[in-house]
Amino acid sequence: MSSVDSKLYLVAVKEAQAAVELDESGQYRKAINKYQRAADILIQFMKFNKNPEMRRVCQDKVENFVERVKVLKAHLNGPRGRRSHPSPKPSDSGGDDKGSENGDGQYTPEEQELIDAISDTILTESPNVRWIDIAGLANSKQSLREAIVLPIMKPKLFTGARKPWSGILLFGPPGCGKTLLARAAATECKATFFSVSSADLLSKWLGESEKLISTLFKVARIKAPSLIFMDEIDSVATKRGEGHEGGGERRVKTQLLSEIQGVKSGSKKPLLVLGATNRPWDIDIAMLSRFEKKVYVPLPDMPARAGIFKIHTEGINSDLSEEDYIELSVRAEGYSGRDISNVCREVIMIPVRELDMGGLLEDPSQDVTVRDINLNDFIKTLKKVKPMTTGKDLDHYQNWAEEFGEY
Ligand SMILES: Nc1ncnc2c1ncn2[C@@H]1O[C@H](COP(=O)(O)OP(=O)(O)OP(=O)(O)O)[C@@H](O)[C@H]1O
Ligand SMILES: [Mg+2]
Repeated sequence: MSSVDSKLYLVAVKEAQAAVELDESGQYRKAINKYQRAADILIQFMKFNKNPEMRRVCQDKVENFVERVKVLKAHLNGPRGRRSHPSPKPSDSGGDDKGSENGDGQYTPEEQELIDAISDTILTESPNVRWIDIAGLANSKQSLREAIVLPIMKPKLFTGARKPWSGILLFGPPGCGKTLLARAAATECKATFFSVSSADLLSKWLGESEKLISTLFKVARIKAPSLIFMDEIDSVATKRGEGHEGGGERRVKTQLLSEIQGVKSGSKKPLLVLGATNRPWDIDIAMLSRFEKKVYVPLPDMPARAGIFKIHTEGINSDLSEEDYIELSVRAEGYSGRDISNVCREVIMIPVRELDMGGLLEDPSQDVTVRDINLNDFIKTLKKVKPMTTGKDLDHYQNWAEEFGEY
């Protein structure tokens, strides 16, 4: 195997071994991440390895990993006490299993039924994103800490007039970290995390959506402290009359409005609703008013862009100096985090592509070395991969933020 192949392959094997260890020690969420990474790397590896036997072995492994991820996810999404495999993990202190289950895990049959009803449709696992995985965005992080993490972790501080905001809306251009921030807040606050895609609410659940929404909020109350994350909220909360809103959609929206309203008059343990959108101006005014706190997630500033370049080239040999990162972040003005991550994905493939085009990856037994990525690779790629957000879009967000949101 050539050294580029063997390097990729070895990384995959290492990830897979780590996955199995985590799996065996009951750290399923971390195991899922590792299995997924191992599968991703093997898929990359297969793109460059032409050996049919090797490809078949890898394909089998990928399928095994994907299958295991499914099993683990089903297990984690299932309510506590449902003895599906894998066997329930022993109680762990401060592991990665933050907050998806609360209390002593004993539910009445009626509660259990409700929980079962939503567990297949809604992601209840705690995501594994930490604040340090997100570059920059200090203001947005602080707002989320105050609006979500502290009220859930220190509810006693939020009594009397210092009430937590029941609804929080993240808005801003696409690819700038809204979903990431929501996931990091959920990881940090150790609440039961319910993540529901608003588009799914309409497509998958239409007909049954209202019942499921009310069930979702009921379960969230039972399992409080809870955080309900509704991504792409604009898809269910369009302004009346503007979209092609059917009766079903209207009912879903009305139901959501009343549930979010109900949260306010809520109980002792916090239940917070966090929405995210990149089209805030499309949101119905009634819905908008339920989100008392609005947090702008802007395009990354210069230091954040440098940080995003670093995060997305982690583990790859590079000869970039600190000054080079500064140069890159200047050149990447106007790029979102997603744009930068796309640039990095392109760049890290350049040395592999060069080897492949030179025919050096044909012979599985030949040893080759992958060169480091360099500034020039980035400069070339930045010319090809253009930012998604235009200046006009940005004005639109900024005007909206001035009118409705906060910076
Ligand atoms: N600040 C950041 N630090 C590190 N990575 C980032 C950052 N912002 C964005 N990214 C990268 O971009 C990807 C997209 O980010 P995310 O999904 O959070 O964007 P979003 O704001 O929710 O976009 P959309 O409005 O399209 O849903 C992330 O998965 C991550 O790889
Ligand atoms: Mg998103």
